Amino acid sequence: MQTLKNSMMTRTNEVSKKVQSALEHEVKRLKALLKISDYLGSTLDLDELLYRIMEVTREQLNADRCTVFLIDQERQELWSKVAMGVNQEIRFPMKKGIAGHVARTGEILNIRDAYADPRFNPEVDKKTGYRTRNLLTMPMHNKQNEIIGVFQVLNKKQGSFTEGDVELLKAIASIAATAVENASLYDELNRSFVSFMETLSTTLDARDYITSGHSRRVTLYAVQVARLMRLSKREIELIRYAALLHDIGKLGIPEIVLFKNKKLSDEEYNIIKRHAVLSKSILAKIRFQRHLKEIPQIAAAHHEKIDGTGYPQGLKGDEIPLGGKILAVCDVFDALTSRRQYKDRMDILEVMDILEKETGKSFEPFVVYHFKNITLNVLIEILEFGHKEDFKAEDLNLLRNYTLKDLLRIRKQGAKSDEEFRVAEIFMYYYQRKYRGE
Ligand SMILES: [Fe+2]
Repeated sequence: MQTLKNSMMTRTNEVSKKVQSALEHEVKRLKALLKISDYLGSTLDLDELLYRIMEVTREQLNADRCTVFLIDQERQELWSKVAMGVNQEIRFPMKKGIAGHVARTGEILNIRDAYADPRFNPEVDKKTGYRTRNLLTMPMHNKQNEIIGVFQVLNKKQGSFTEGDVELLKAIASIAATAVENASLYDELNRSFVSFMETLSTTLDARDYITSGHSRRVTLYAVQVARLMRLSKREIELIRYAALLHDIGKLGIPEIVLFKNKKLSDEEYNIIKRHAVLSKSILAKIRFQRHLKEIPQIAAAHHEKIDGTGYPQGLKGDEIPLGGKILAVCDVFDALTSRRQYKDRMDILEVMDILEKETGKSFEPFVVYHFKNITLNVLIEILEFGHKEDFKAEDLNLLRNYTLKDLLRIRKQGAKSDEEFRVAEIFMYYYQRKYRGE
């Protein structure tokens, strides 16, 4: 009796130990899933998010590597969106390999010996120098239940992948698929927004043949200055769109005034000045994302001067948004360096003299300071935007090591070396060259 009781107790203990271990296992897995869903809200960067998901997967499945392949429908290929331990993109036809099979059929494949499976494509190993032993491959579905990619886990450290691993990867792949889908929707939305902004800007530039390409060039200068100021990605984006559309209000100015060749009367000048306010009211009608909300104010401020004598509001100093101060310098620089009909470009020294005289009055000194730090290769490519194919690569390479500030010193005080002499010569060649019809 006693023996039976003992044996039953031992058995009960064993069972409860098993249950406990199974429970602990489950809790660990649930924690992993919770960790992953936490990541979902923490970043908008899809690569970073997928990489974090892979880290948890690798740890939980005790595997060596993970890869997320996405389907390129147009080319009928799979490409590695994020692959652990591999620097180059892996790309292959969908009809190839285990991942291809899963992408086509939606089957889950748990392969214990990769090289024994005829569907396995050893070319990827050959390319990456990796040796795949076993692999677990899971399809990723979107909300319409279409396959959008494949989540693959390679080389279980001991033994092969279990049923438990399959179940966990199902849940993980489904989260990863949602992340991919959200990111591509966001991306699409963003791309259509960018093309809309660019089209608006091109429309404006196309109408104003005298200052053709002005908005584009001002945008390129403004982005350079913002980068040199080490502004954040979002601030640079804000300035880029405000620059693209800063003159959009000109669409509301009658052509007879806008394109008048002769001197403008005070009344006509006042009509032209209205474009700044018009830019603001046109842009205020667009629904911008929160971090782009300031676009109308920045665009409207491109004719404000820090001494308060600008328009439309006569704002002073820091009442003018930083983006507005940047636009003011880039706008004037572009106007002064533009080729006008029957007129050569104003000499760069003269242009900079005008800018410097206005520094502290019209322009914020630190914006002019950063503007002068633009490298000459970038500067000439913007000045000559639209004639890019005419540049010699070696010229651009040489100009890369010098800034506008260096050029002004060389031109004013003379070159200190043969290279400096060449730099000034090359820059001025592109700056002054003429095109057919000009
Ligand atoms: Fe303007």
